[in-house]
Amino acid sequence: MNVLEHIKEEHADFRKKLTKIENAKGEQKKVIFKELFAEIHGHHEAEEQVVFPLVKAKKDEKAQDVVLEMIEEHTLGMHQFKVLDKTPVEDETWDAKFAVLKEVLTHHMDEEEKEFMPKAKKAITEKVLVDILPKFESVLEDNMKKMKKKLG
Ligand SMILES: [Fe+2]
Ligand SMILES: [Fe+2]
Repeated sequence: MNVLEHIKEEHADFRKKLTKIENAKGEQKKVIFKELFAEIHGHHEAEEQVVFPLVKAKKDEKAQDVVLEMIEEHTLGMHQFKVLDKTPVEDETWDAKFAVLKEVLTHHMDEEEKEFMPKAKKAITEKVLVDILPKFESVLEDNMKKMKKKLG
C-alpha cells in the first residue's frame, strides 16, 4: 500500500466517525469526538510533515497552491475542533458547531482526494509513496498520542 491509499482509508474511517458522533448522545458524543480530534490532528501533522513537502519541492505552482490550501483547511478544521472541545456537549450550539466542523472536514477530504492526490501522484514516484508510509504512520502516532494526553 502507498501513503495516498492509506490516507484515503483513513478518510473513509473519519467519515464514518463523523456520522457516529452525530448520532451519539451525551458523554458518548464527547468520547468519540475526542478520539477523532486526536486522530485527525495526527493525520494532519503526518500529511504536513511527510507528504506535502515532497509535492511542494517540485516547483509546480499549481501543486504548491493546492498544498497551501490543504494546510489552511487543516488550520480551519483544528480551530473548530478546539471551539467544540471548549463547548459543553449539552450546550444548544454544540450540534450546530459540529455540523460546521463536519462540512469543513468533508470538503477538505474530498478536495485532498480529487485535487491534491493527482498532483502528488505526478510529483512523487510510486516507490517513494510506498517507502514513506512507515514515517507517515509514526508521525501520526506520536502526534495523536500527544493530543490524546492534552485532551485527557
Ligand atoms: Fe489533509
Ligand atoms: Fe487527509
